[in-house]
Order: sequence, then structure tokens, then C-alpha cells
Amino acid sequence: MDRFLTLEPVRATEYAALASARWIGRGDEKAADAAAVAAMRAALNTMPIDGTVVIGEGERDEAPMLYIGEKVGLGGTSVDIALDPLEGTTLTAQGNFNAMTVIALAPQGGFLAAPDVYMEKLAAGPDVPAEALSLNNSLSTNLHNVADAKGVPLQDLVVCLLNRPRHAEQIAQVRALGCRIILIQDGDVSAVIATAQPESSIDVYIGTGGAPEGVLAAAALSCLGGTIQGRLLFRNDDEKQRAVRWGVKDFDRVYSLRDLVPSDDVMFAATGVTDGPLLTGVKRIAGGVRTHSIIMRSKTGTVRRLTTDHNTLRKAELLRHHEAG
Ligand code: FBP
Repeated sequence: MDRFLTLEPVRATEYAALASARWIGRGDEKAADAAAVAAMRAALNTMPIDGTVVIGEGERDEAPMLYIGEKVGLGGTSVDIALDPLEGTTLTAQGNFNAMTVIALAPQGGFLAAPDVYMEKLAAGPDVPAEALSLNNSLSTNLHNVADAKGVPLQDLVVCLLNRPRHAEQIAQVRALGCRIILIQDGDVSAVIATAQPESSIDVYIGTGGAPEGVLAAAALSCLGGTIQGRLLFRNDDEKQRAVRWGVKDFDRVYSLRDLVPSDDVMFAATGVTDGPLLTGVKRIAGGVRTHSIIMRSKTGTVRRLTTDHNTLRKAELLRHHEAG
């Protein structure tokens, strides 16, 4: 992909964050999500790309915008796009920590076209070799392997899971092994990213979340280093049939990072909506609004952290001039 595209994805995440931030704490998940979707789509449509949404808001008949297969951009470099305009709709609606906007770009075929079903996930940072982790291992074996790779006692490991009743057994097992647990309410993309950030203190992410979020998390790890495995989980035949339409042949397949993100040239960007350990949320400042983003590229391993002041007064003035002709 062209290098000049590196900063483009962050315009889309910033714009989506600015739009959804207006809905923080208003109790309306749908409105927060709709605002993020419309803004991200508008931003994508100003970019010099011939983009195809591969991981998006759902299938064409269920999502009016940014549906899977939708074409976006002004024309130009051909890219596949994985996105979640608002990762943490409930977090935003409730004014809770850790909501962000997310996008990843790769050349055509760069992302697994994952159906919108659940995915069992297992992830750790770059200090854990890929062969140390397997969804076919017992949880105990995986955690012992991570502790060995990090050279720490098992009791020092911190494991992160989504706080869901479906994880009760895993939570009990992890605690019985003596490890510590961080339970999060939502947002497993940032939880997987946290495993690759030593300052987060999270060593391993385990549990079941959305499959599209699994691909986005793998895109981030392909830039930061780290390892992830995923296995699709189906709640009924309808979900299985949908997966077949998506090209899934083996329902039990364990996907590696390379299966989830086959490309070695991925650009990943995220902007904070509410405050979180990875990103500070949208803040009001004199004359405007400040956003905090991360932009990464797997080819170079460059990780940029961007603080942007958006001058809302000047933008409004420009818009008025524009409208006046
Ligand atoms: P949304 O962006 O749709 O709000 O998803 C938040 C999230 O917590 C994801 O991070 C996670 O993968 C998924 O929901 C978990 O699904 P569920 O809420 O059904 O357990």
C-alpha cells in the first residue's frame, strides 16, 4: 500500500470519535453507533482509495452503511477495510471507560472475511512465542506456557476476560491456578492490544467475543507483535449456514494470526471515545475538541500516537463560507 496512506485511516477514526462522543452517557447505544458509522463513512469517502468493506456493520440487508461489500473512497489505491466505527457502544451510552473507534486497511485479501458470529480467542504479547499458545491446549497448559515464556511465577500472571456468565468456568479455573484476573465490561479489541503493551500489566487475553473484533485485534497485533488464535463458535444452524456463505468449510478450525490477517502490510488506527488504558477519550478544550489516536503499520512496525486539536469554531466558519459559495 502507498506510504502516503498511513495517516489517512486516522481521519476516519477521529471523525467517528468526534461524532459518537456527542452521545457519551446519553443512554442511546443506537444513536451513538449510527453517529460513528455515518461519520466514518463520510471520512472514508474523502480518501484517495478504492476501498471495499470486508469487516463491517453487517450484511447489506441489515446495515444501511458500511455493510460488508460496500465500496468507499474517491478512487485510487485498492484496499480492503476492516472497521468497527464504535467498539463499545454500551460503554459509550453509559459513559463508561474504554470505548474507541477502529479501522484497519490492507491490500485486497488482507483480512479473513469473518462472519458476524462469536469467536473463542486466546492472545498474548510479543514475549510469548506463537507455539506456546493453542486453543487445543488446556487452559492450564497455556497459562503455564505463558508464565514460562515470561519467566514469571504462574501466580504473577494477569489474565483478562470479558465479564460474561459464559466465562464462569474459565474464570474459576484461572483463579484455581492462582492467576489474577481483570474482568472488562466490553471492548475486547483493546484488551487483546493490551497484551502487547507491557505497561497494561495484562499478560493473556482469553474468552469469547465477536469474530469481527477478533480480526481487528489480529490486525493490531500484526503491527505490534504478539500472537492470537481464534475459533468460530456457532449458536445455531442459521449461524453455520451464514458462515458457509462466507466460505467457512471447517467449523472447528483454529485460525492463527496469519489466517486472520494474511497481509504483511496492514495499517491500523484507533481513536479514544471515552478514556481507557490504551487511549484517552475525546476532550473539550478552548475553541474545540481534542482526540487521542494510535496509528500503526505492520510493514515497518511504526507506532504513532497522535493528539489532535480540532478547532470547531474555525471549521464551522469554513463551512459557512463554503455554504455561502
Ligand atoms: P460493540 O462494539 O458492538 O458494542 O461490541 C463490544 C464487545 O464487547 C466486543 O468488544 C466484543 O467482542 C463483543 O462485544 C462481545 O459480545 P457480547 O456483548 O455479546 O458478549
